[in-house]
Amino acid sequence: MASKITIAIDGFSSTGKSTLAKQLAKQLEYVYVDTGAMYRAVTYFAMQNGYITHDYFDKESLVHSLPFIRLQFEFKPELGFGVMVLNDIVVEEEIRTIEVSGFVSKIAAVDEVRTKLVEQQQEMGKGKGIVMDGRDIGTVVFPNAELKIYMTASATTRAQRRYDELIQKGDDVSYDEVFQNVVERDYIDTHRANSPLVKAADAIEIDNSNMTREEQLALVLDLVQNLNN
Ligand code: DC
Repeated sequence: MASKITIAIDGFSSTGKSTLAKQLAKQLEYVYVDTGAMYRAVTYFAMQNGYITHDYFDKESLVHSLPFIRLQFEFKPELGFGVMVLNDIVVEEEIRTIEVSGFVSKIAAVDEVRTKLVEQQQEMGKGKGIVMDGRDIGTVVFPNAELKIYMTASATTRAQRRYDELIQKGDDVSYDEVFQNVVERDYIDTHRANSPLVKAADAIEIDNSNMTREEQLALVLDLVQNLNN
């Protein structure tokens, strides 16, 4: 049997990273970790405690609360991946709202938050056989990952994907609002001082604007196969 590797998938929001990562994890029988969900869960915690609103961010209180934020993934066999658990409560749905999306880049720019989450992510990947997606996986979390993928797609394609997802869930959003959020997050994620989104030198770039899920999966499975040969 092929030896297990670490697969790092980075890229802008709504590039289909998690779709690809979940398919790969299922196919290869690897563990899937959605690091965006961890930043979203911390954001949800900050919102619940009144540390962040539209015109206010009490970073200091959030940093002081970090030891009291416990994040876990609870594996759901029917889904094939783990759902996000914040302090013993499943928050998988709560962390996917447009409100959380609006605040998450600010939270993800806090050094202490990144240090805590990166440590936990590295611990989860110690045994390999993991597919992790995020913004800094190939550059910071696992700089030695055997396979690094950098996913891109046009901002309009990505906004349309996110909009369709939110509408399907029954959220009351407009396309313009979602597009604005995508553009803003792109900017903040690529311009923050700590671990900005950049393509690792040894990452393979995939633009999936015009690719089906099946094509993209086949492409990456080939790359995994080639590593094993
Ligand atoms: O992948 P996502 O859209 O659910 O991620 C939510 C936010 O979290 C995104 O705007 C950037 C941030 N993030 C990050 O800074 N580092 C990661 N490894 C994953 C996500």
